[in-house]
Amino acid sequence: MTATLIGTSATPELPKDLRIGVIYGGDSPERPGSVASAEAAAKSLSRQADILGNLSVELIDLRGLDLTALRSRIDVALLACHGLGGEDGKIQGTLDTLGIPYTGSGVQASAIGMDKDRVKQILLAQTIDTPRWVTPHPSHSMETTASTAHLTLGWPVFVKPAAGGGSLAAGIANDEEELAGLLRTGSQYERFIIEEYLEGTPATVGVLEIGGQLTPLPVHTAFTDRQFYDYEAKHNPGERREVCPADLPGMVTTMLQQTALRVHRAVGAHGVSRVDFLLHPSGRRPVLEINTVPGLSERGNLATAAGAAGLSYDDLIRHVLMTAFTKASYVP
Ligand SMILES: Nc1ncnc2c1ncn2[C@@H]1O[C@H](COP(=O)(O)OP(=O)(O)OP(=O)(O)O)[C@@H](O)[C@H]1O
Ligand SMILES: [Mg+2]
Repeated sequence: MTATLIGTSATPELPKDLRIGVIYGGDSPERPGSVASAEAAAKSLSRQADILGNLSVELIDLRGLDLTALRSRIDVALLACHGLGGEDGKIQGTLDTLGIPYTGSGVQASAIGMDKDRVKQILLAQTIDTPRWVTPHPSHSMETTASTAHLTLGWPVFVKPAAGGGSLAAGIANDEEELAGLLRTGSQYERFIIEEYLEGTPATVGVLEIGGQLTPLPVHTAFTDRQFYDYEAKHNPGERREVCPADLPGMVTTMLQQTALRVHRAVGAHGVSRVDFLLHPSGRRPVLEINTVPGLSERGNLATAAGAAGLSYDDLIRHVLMTAFTKASYVP
């Protein structure tokens, strides 16, 4: 399959002499991914300083950050912070209050996107397929949780934190004991969701605003011999094989891209996101989740998909930066 060329290298109009803060880190378990996103994005912006109008770039760690000082320090924030505190609306709300424009989604979409249970409720309301699931109540005994999961979904089930990412603390449980083990290991997470286990190929579709037009990028698929697309498969290139554009019939590609756009809009996301799917052999293609601050590293899925669409990494970062200036003046 050949790459679709969406590419435009046209430089968007940006204010001159911008001081850009690339915000990353914090204390979320996804900190390492965030550092990779931020360093790559900052280098890309610095490389483009001339064409972008003499900008300056500062890497800003959320950990221990004096938020009130940000206002005099930067003109715009490029958000490269994943997980709780960075992707869940908190930093977005702070920046709104300080009057600093920032890339990507506003408070509400960020908060919704960080909560897999909420996102799945929205998907159901929009008749978008998603694995059946139960949300255990933190006060319920393990016995109650296991019998609810088993009676509703059967074994095996797939367990993941409601507000997690990077496949951290996620896994397959074949019985009550394994379910208890997974919930115990992930005890730093407050809430989990338990889904029906579906074997299938993980696929993801990046959504990017290009010249004011929300555009789905080519479908990215990943294959692994591991039990599922876990942390190890995501971080060790030898444990996965990526195919982008995915080798899928045109109609399936279009369906996944259209669904990604629908999900992006349904949660009210802005500018950039990545919607994850599972391609089940039965033909089901359920949506797993939306990432409102997708990884921005140079070899990450979003950059790979952008590359398959004819966009260089620098093009991608420029389009992401632009999303800070195309948000409505009030976004909840
Ligand atoms: N219901 C399920 N059945 C089987 N495997 C699943 C299921 N849900 C998730 N997985 C596996 O776990 C992987 C990660 O799932 P998901 O995208 O929901 O989690 P995440 O931790 O938020 O990921 P990300 O790295 O995108 O933040 C999937 O690609 C898939 O391999
Ligand atoms: Mg995912």
